[in-house]
Amino acid sequence: MSSSASDVRAEPMKTTSPIIETRSHTLLVAPGFPDYEVLDAGDGLKLERLGDVVISRQCAQAFWPRALPEGEWTRAHATHFRTDNGPGAWTTTRKVRPAWPIRCGDLHFEMRLTEFGHIGMFAEQQVQWGDITARLLEKPESRVLNLFAYTGGSTLAAGLGKARVTHVDAVKGVVSWARANATATGLEAAPIRWIVDDAPTFVAREVRREVRYDGIILDPPTFGRAPTGAVWKIESDLVPMLANCERLLSDDPGFVLLSAHTPGVTAATLENLLGPLLEKRGGRLEAGEMVHRVTASKSVIPAGVYCRWTPR
Ligand SMILES: C[S@@+](CC[C@H](N)C(=O)[O-])C[C@H]1O[C@@H](n2cnc3c(N)ncnc32)[C@H](O)[C@@H]1O
Repeated sequence: MSSSASDVRAEPMKTTSPIIETRSHTLLVAPGFPDYEVLDAGDGLKLERLGDVVISRQCAQAFWPRALPEGEWTRAHATHFRTDNGPGAWTTTRKVRPAWPIRCGDLHFEMRLTEFGHIGMFAEQQVQWGDITARLLEKPESRVLNLFAYTGGSTLAAGLGKARVTHVDAVKGVVSWARANATATGLEAAPIRWIVDDAPTFVAREVRREVRYDGIILDPPTFGRAPTGAVWKIESDLVPMLANCERLLSDDPGFVLLSAHTPGVTAATLENLLGPLLEKRGGRLEAGEMVHRVTASKSVIPAGVYCRWTPR
């Protein structure tokens, strides 16, 4: 008997891993905080307020029309535009201090307008920081490894969770910035190791030293560089590094949190990376999208994906 389209029935999806149980992904909405909000987004741009400074930056995903009139957008103190083969540049129309403080709950950050249009904080991670602190407070003195740790948002969150944190980033100036944020947060005496190193090289060294961690956080960029200049590429370098990260987990780990901001890398991609690696440990995977609430439109804009493994 020949089959027709009507014979084709939807089957429950079979996955490579029994612990990939997520059939619907979570939408984690970062609502902003008194010192940070996304005011509007559209026409390939987003308008943000960082304390009393308003900036506009490119945002390729926001290709719907803007909600606010042009007059509101021209309030921006600074606007960043990327170029095809360079970091791009900020244009300032009102005076901006070289650095200024902002606060997300108990976490304190210094803001700066840096090349590539960065500001010293990935505010969508707000939705992870509270969870990191709360989990760790249940198991104080956990050993936590934070890779690609930038200015330390997750390091501060883990520090407030009374963890012993190892913070790793390839850029010395960024690690100094993270230390300054830790001091501003009141964590200057906290047990945090500040490491300037290539993340995969450091992880391989920790495997050889038989070091173990109870929690691992990683937010790998699409493209990066080791202090030696060696190139990091997410599509070729993440898989071997994750295998080594699994070897670093203690016998009683609390969590692994992987996030990404690479176009084409979805929540399902992250599940496919973590699921098979961690299935022998059982537990649970939660994956989804991180988004910012947009004040003007009450809509949201995409800001990356995450996958969190926790033991049952
Ligand atoms: C996407 S940011 C991480 C954001 C951070 N998780 C947060 O929420 O604040 C990427 C970071 O990876 C660092 N990086 C790039 N290549 C690296 C490498 N090979 N080893 C270690 N860090 C690297 C960059 O210096 C940058 O700070």
